Amino acid sequence: MRGFDRGARSWYARPAMSPPPDTLLGSSIKEVLFTAEDIAAKVQELGRGLTEHYRGRRPLVVGILTGCFPFIADLVRAMDIELEVDFMSVSSYGAGTKSSGVVRFLKDLDQPIEGRDVLLVEDIIDTGLTLKYLTEALHTRKPASIQICALLDKQAGRTQNVEVQWRGFDCPDAFVVGYGLDYSGAYRNLPYVGVLDPSVYKGE
Ligand code: IMP
Repeated sequence: MRGFDRGARSWYARPAMSPPPDTLLGSSIKEVLFTAEDIAAKVQELGRGLTEHYRGRRPLVVGILTGCFPFIADLVRAMDIELEVDFMSVSSYGAGTKSSGVVRFLKDLDQPIEGRDVLLVEDIIDTGLTLKYLTEALHTRKPASIQICALLDKQAGRTQNVEVQWRGFDCPDAFVVGYGLDYSGAYRNLPYVGVLDPSVYKGE
């Protein structure tokens, strides 16, 4: 039996992870964790919940660049309400697979958020440093609310206490790529999420 048992995690019960498709990019992937179909179903489920939650509130949906781009594009199209979209960019990672532990602010929002309901959309939460820094910075601007929607939650890496109201999948403690997530800028265009073969970054 394989899996990453952290209590009754949803994906522990999944069958053995599928091998990657025989493609150029797939040859760098050790195993597929979440297929394009898994992700599409989860995004619809999140979209239904968010539609109910934000009905009549015209939320500002904020993507955290760059990894959020496929997720936010699919997520807002699964939300059947009026909303607005904006983007922010911070960086806590260098070119490798480990967090630098230092968050750098690269791009701010284009508009004020006082009195607005803000939904932060993130590809993955690991240490929680990025989202903690962002939510603390945004709270000083007096929004009506701030919630977080993360496609993947790597709970084993958490060092910060961050409340994630909307999460897609629990993610094992491995470096994953695809569906927006990169290694050194590459693999964001994989349609699925998989574990990168360590031979790709060995010697780092
Ligand atoms: P945190 O600040 O440690 O929570 O990290 C959040 C950011 O780190 C995410 O937005 C990703 O850009 C990046 N990250 C964390 N884990 C991974 C991973 O397994 N693959 C690719 N990027 C990751």
